[in-house]
Amino acid sequence: MNNSLSRNLALEAVRITEAAALSSSLLMGRGDEKAADSNAVNAMRFFLNKLSIEGTVVIGEGERDNAPMLYIGEKVGAGGPKVDIALDPLEGTTITANGGENALSVIAMAEDNGFLHSPDVYMDKIAVGKKYEDVDINFDMPPDKIVFNLSKKSGVDTANLVVCILDRPRHKELIQDIRKTGARIKLIMDGDVSAVISTTIEDSGVDLYIGSGGAPEGVLAAAALRCLGGKIIGKLLINNENEKKRAIKSGIKDFNKIYSTSELASGDVMFAATGVTDGTLLKGVRITNNIAKTHSIVMRSKTKTVRFIEAIHNLTNKKIIQ
Ligand code: FBP
Repeated sequence: MNNSLSRNLALEAVRITEAAALSSSLLMGRGDEKAADSNAVNAMRFFLNKLSIEGTVVIGEGERDNAPMLYIGEKVGAGGPKVDIALDPLEGTTITANGGENALSVIAMAEDNGFLHSPDVYMDKIAVGKKYEDVDINFDMPPDKIVFNLSKKSGVDTANLVVCILDRPRHKELIQDIRKTGARIKLIMDGDVSAVISTTIEDSGVDLYIGSGGAPEGVLAAAALRCLGGKIIGKLLINNENEKKRAIKSGIKDFNKIYSTSELASGDVMFAATGVTDGTLLKGVRITNNIAKTHSIVMRSKTKTVRFIEAIHNLTNKKIIQ
């Protein structure tokens, strides 16, 4: 992607995540996950289709048969240079429906074939922030060894390290193993893109993210870390014949491959996110009378510039797309 294109796209991308966040925030706390997601999808697609790009959704709302819009393979944009797009109009549908924390609207763009074309399956993930970039992490290593390595590198006692894990029955053993090291655990209900990013945020209080979550979310998180520093490793979890078929269809050849950050998101990458609900990284949408406020982050891997953008939207002059 040429420099000026990627620069302009980054700022355009924020307008897209702002629109999706504004739209889904109207459904925040209303107990309807589907409606919140559908608002975000409609708004994101509307603005994406105005961009002067020939975009292909490579990480999207799901595989073509399951997602009516922004499905994997969908062509978006009004024409222009070829760009691959990874998106999650509403990362944290349940969070939003329940009025919880850390729901985001997210988009990342890269050159052709910049993102792993991942099927919508689970992925094992381990992520650490910038200060631990040279610490060895891998899936063969018992989790307690990873915690001890981080402690050794930082000089911080394991009791003062914090590990973020999705609160799921499948993580029961992992949680027990980590607790044995003395490290503390931040259990989250949902939203592992935000959790992975939090490992790179200085005062987030999170040192390590570990566990399985969505593979598409792994690719999006990798795009963010390419810009912010830190690293993530991911391994697709292909559990049955159906998933195997879908993985092959996506072009996956080696089901046991361990992907590094730059294999998940390579080349010149840009990433933008807007907070839907309050979180570690961004504040959520606030709407009072005819004014809405959004908080976004936009960054590029090439320059590593990270911009936080607070926008005030006058709703008398502009309608929220739903
Ligand atoms: P949605 O926004 O699609 O609901 O995803 C939320 C999420 O928590 C992701 O952040 C995470 O990767 C995935 O779901 C975990 O999947 P599961 O809820 O099946 O454990």
